[in-house]
Amino acid sequence: MQETLKLVTQAFGVSGNEDEIREVISNDIKKYVDEIRVDAMGNLIAVKKGKKKKIMLAAHMDEIGIIATFIDEKGFIRFSNLGGVSPFTSLGQRVKFRNGIIGTVNAEEKLEDMKGLKLGKMYIDIGCKDREEAEKLVKVGDTASFVGDFVVQGNYAISKAMDDRSGCAVLIQLIKTLPKTDNEIYFVFTTQEELGLRGAKTAAFGIVPDCAIAIDVTLTGDTPECNNREVKLGGGPAIKVKDSSYIANPFIRRMLEELAAENSIPYTLELLDRGGSDPGAIQTTGVGVPCGGISIPCRSVHSPSEMVCLDDLENCVKLAALFIRNFKG
Ligand code: CO
Ligand code: ZN
Repeated sequence: MQETLKLVTQAFGVSGNEDEIREVISNDIKKYVDEIRVDAMGNLIAVKKGKKKKIMLAAHMDEIGIIATFIDEKGFIRFSNLGGVSPFTSLGQRVKFRNGIIGTVNAEEKLEDMKGLKLGKMYIDIGCKDREEAEKLVKVGDTASFVGDFVVQGNYAISKAMDDRSGCAVLIQLIKTLPKTDNEIYFVFTTQEELGLRGAKTAAFGIVPDCAIAIDVTLTGDTPECNNREVKLGGGPAIKVKDSSYIANPFIRRMLEELAAENSIPYTLELLDRGGSDPGAIQTTGVGVPCGGISIPCRSVHSPSEMVCLDDLENCVKLAALFIRNFKG
């Protein structure tokens, strides 16, 4: 699982530009599934055939990043965000464009108060003397992801894009280890979640599942002076109760809680007042889909140094596998 996590977190795949990460995942899983396809929104859909219920498991494969909007005459790049990019966590970081070009993220020098820090007052430096030289390397409309190496320390792993490649790693582990069931399982690596849950919606519409579970990271309550939340690193999967896009389907939520309790899997409940996630899009697709969320506790979400606990990932795999085997509709 660690190897998979490294592979998928370090691949490029800013929202709307998911082809590299899709290729990486597709190559890793294709020999374990009966069918694999890509829909018009770029979602990667892998199927393990079965005769009974259609279960959709989703994790988004896009990551937050930036897009170049303007290159000035000195060769500095102005940019806009793709997904929730904070100016504070971006300052001083490096970004990597699709072609491998590295840029440093800086702010205008006349900025006196950090409160005034906005992406519009920031620029990317790729070390060029003028616009002409810069445009040979980066063009307006090109996207870049943040640079954040993969590190394992004890039971914790740190990297860029744990949101939501750690969910992708959980799905990949399920694909590789799940024994055949009577149910038909759709493993969906969705696109453009960070831009408003866009891929999940068309994927669910195309599949018309009998139920769905989305796996994504969530905020924890275990760091200094943060909001009160019971979700914590090492606390096991967080079963989603609500976020700003979703409120839990009571049947699915109860089933997940019971399966965790009966099988001694530690878990907490996730309640977020801000931020949406794929279950919100999936459950309101077509005539509606009973949908749940299993969340991976993650510190420093939407920074280049997102941290997860490896035991939590294993427990997410266990809980999702139990759900798949026990769902009867
Ligand atoms: Co996110
Ligand atoms: Zn996410």
